[in-house]
Amino acid sequence: MSAADLETNAFWMPFTANRDFKKNPRIITGASGHHYTRSDGTRLYDTFSGLWSSGAGHCHPKIVAAVQKQVAELDFSMTFQASNDKAFALAERITGMAPDGFSNCFFTNSGSESVDTALKIALGYHRARGEGHRTRLIGRERGYHGVNFGGMSVGGIVPNRKAFSANLIPGVDHMRHTMNLEHAAFTRGQPQWGAHLADDLERLASLHDGSNIAAVIVEPVAGSTGILPPPVGYLEKLREICDRHGILLIFDEVITAFGRLGKPFAPDRFGVIPDIITTAKGLTNGVIPMGAVLVRKEIYDAFMQGPEFIIEIFHGYTYSGHPVAAAAGLAAMDVYEGEGTFEQAAALESTFEDILHSFADHEKVIDVRNCGLMGAIELAPRDGAPGARGLEIHKKCFWDEHLVVRNGMDVLQFAPFLNSKEDEMQQSFEAIRRVIDTID
Ligand SMILES: Cc1ncc(COP(=O)(O)O)c(C=O)c1O
Repeated sequence: MSAADLETNAFWMPFTANRDFKKNPRIITGASGHHYTRSDGTRLYDTFSGLWSSGAGHCHPKIVAAVQKQVAELDFSMTFQASNDKAFALAERITGMAPDGFSNCFFTNSGSESVDTALKIALGYHRARGEGHRTRLIGRERGYHGVNFGGMSVGGIVPNRKAFSANLIPGVDHMRHTMNLEHAAFTRGQPQWGAHLADDLERLASLHDGSNIAAVIVEPVAGSTGILPPPVGYLEKLREICDRHGILLIFDEVITAFGRLGKPFAPDRFGVIPDIITTAKGLTNGVIPMGAVLVRKEIYDAFMQGPEFIIEIFHGYTYSGHPVAAAAGLAAMDVYEGEGTFEQAAALESTFEDILHSFADHEKVIDVRNCGLMGAIELAPRDGAPGARGLEIHKKCFWDEHLVVRNGMDVLQFAPFLNSKEDEMQQSFEAIRRVIDTID
């Protein structure tokens, strides 16, 4: 099928310039391993692992087989009041992988739902302990926590908030973001500069009184805003301030969980343990939509009070713990463990870092940032047209270099497959350099 035969009008595309896209649609019709297939049959190398989601590669045969088997065996079962075996098995599996102390998980269908679920759990936890006055939530500028009202409110991406400004949930404050070109441009990994920015949490705790704050939510490595690794000592400081004031620390690990940092979870890399972890994407290797919120035992236990016939949390989605998604999740965990996917990711880090930083002296590049297998090349914007350069690179890569490259405005973002081949990675960046060289 050619793109010209496809009617593209009805699909209102998310986070896309619809009118521009529909003039010359970039349609993908297949995938296998590290490649997509374009509607004209051309193979495209994917530099973004889907949308941060498919770290072990597309259409992994073990996950495909598990999904096919499950959908023929049990296509759906509710998990309200009766449930399915796969949901329980996956919950055991991922809490077993999580840092010590994480005992339970609540299933959702997406990262956005995981975030809103985590915020509700934090509020409910304090209330259950008789601290219902803890209602304030703290996020961070440039944070991305999905697009539902809670996540959008604690998030700090201005265009995502702008149209809904008056309807954001009340009682939310933001810490400053950690990006600083003057002090930290072209840092490899975590910047040395910036731990003091965590003091913003102390400032907000003084302003509101820490006893009124329920939770602070951060991405351990900010992703969608263009890869901001945490300054050295920053997460430690947040943890310390949270402990001092009884505030829950939520790590939004929708991107970072399941190997993106060379470990199962960010605490395994940074040594800072939050109270709640949100996940999605890599949970099923992107195959079936699913998210999970992991909580420490004391949080789960706080809800398990009162008469046993009463529902402890009035929250859940029709598809929380969907059996086909859970089967995909179990197969993804088998792949990650059986193939050593996280170890493969860790071994690729230094090659990826070297390749990315080889762009540092390019005249159009104003910063390069990386952490684990997350990386960004930030280009200078064109005068009066921020974002135009990034989008042009995306399109030229797609049509001329047979690459899928994600741009967020003028920041090229990279999420290599956790099991990338070094030569493919090298070749893809040679092509990206050609495109950066030739565009305005
Ligand atoms: C840190 C973080 N939280 C939440 C989300 C939202 O996830 P979803 O698009 O699955 O709702 C994302 C998506 O990229 C994310 O990066």
